Amino acid sequence: MQQEWIDKGKQFLANTYTRFPLGIAKGEGCWLFDMNGRRYLDFLSGIAVCSLGHANKNVVEGLSKQAKKLMHVSNLFYTEAQIRAAQLLVENSFGDKVFFCNSGAEANEAAIKLARRYSWKNHGEGRSQIIAMENSFHGRTIATLSATGQPKFHVGFNPLVEDFTFVPFNDFGAVEKSISGRTCGVMLECIQSEGGVFVADKEYLKKLREITKERDILLILDEVQTGIGRTGKLFGYEHYAIEPDIMSLAKALGSGFPVGAILAKDRVMDAFEPGTHASTFGGNPLAAAAVIATLNTIMEDGVVKNCEKMSAYLLQGLLTLKKKYPFLKDVRGMGLLLGIEFTMEVNPIVQEFLAEGVILYASKGNVIRLLPPLIIEKEEIDIFLEIASRIFERLK
Ligand SMILES: Cc1ncc(COP(=O)(O)O)c(C=O)c1O
Repeated sequence: MQQEWIDKGKQFLANTYTRFPLGIAKGEGCWLFDMNGRRYLDFLSGIAVCSLGHANKNVVEGLSKQAKKLMHVSNLFYTEAQIRAAQLLVENSFGDKVFFCNSGAEANEAAIKLARRYSWKNHGEGRSQIIAMENSFHGRTIATLSATGQPKFHVGFNPLVEDFTFVPFNDFGAVEKSISGRTCGVMLECIQSEGGVFVADKEYLKKLREITKERDILLILDEVQTGIGRTGKLFGYEHYAIEPDIMSLAKALGSGFPVGAILAKDRVMDAFEPGTHASTFGGNPLAAAAVIATLNTIMEDGVVKNCEKMSAYLLQGLLTLKKKYPFLKDVRGMGLLLGIEFTMEVNPIVQEFLAEGVILYASKGNVIRLLPPLIIEKEEIDIFLEIASRIFERLK
């Protein structure tokens, strides 16, 4: 049955993804089940989306209740669900106000527009440059692609949006040199996850915060992947004792229901006035119900603490493996966003894991990324480590 669906998928779906030869039928906690009923340990979480695992009771209940009451109404109206979702985000972050959209790319698109609009309003025309990082990833729309510092994603899509300047990640001097009278924003991820799991240095982000504040340049943190508990804190910036001017969120924000958001202080978000930015679906009651259920569960059920604890446990296991197998070049990351760098090509290793019943994925540069649900327990990490040792033993 599975193969039939795969064949049909090839016939009817645009060929934009290199898909696993698997059809997924259902999920439960940290486990996924394919169409033939085989169980897989999920170390991908829909690429950092299903942080509460699959079929989380609170999210399912929140969504079903809301669907029965009101699924969608235009943003020309207020809804209780959207306001509650925004209040939860504001009360637990640096932000004063929230703009809701539907994805990470859309959140970054809004962040880019807001930075330019803020600058235009406060400093006049001509301040449109955004300094972004080499090796970054911000999305696939034309503006977010233009902000993405990986030329391989640009091929065939020129001309891109103007005025993005790229500098090496974790190099404060390069940012300082590139800042000019035309700069309105500095945009980065606190962990370059798609870029191969590189963590921003503490001192680097602190200095970026200082220089951007001095010159009224907006610091835009893309927390699409790092936000909502993934790093062991609710937001990645909390590790750095700084606050950004704009933060973008998506992925885990709705536990799999498509929703994105940007947060900013009033003085920044006020640059968006009625008619300047909008989204038909952004933060509709159903999306907002997913946000409310997700945030409440993450905060009330100790999920972020669990992420921190399980991260330490998994890291310890990985470091033990690293000592034993010299082809494990590096283990890095934060929380449950970890990368294992190999000395060899990793796609065959990803396939080995799949054959052993573990779903995980490669990142740039011989790196395998580990993104298990944040509700994972020791027993499941032990299963993963045992399978990993078995595979590494064969690779010796
Ligand atoms: C850091 C970061 N920003 C933006 C995006 C784009 O998000 P989306 O695919 O929801 O548009 C991603 C997706 O992987 C991401 O990791």
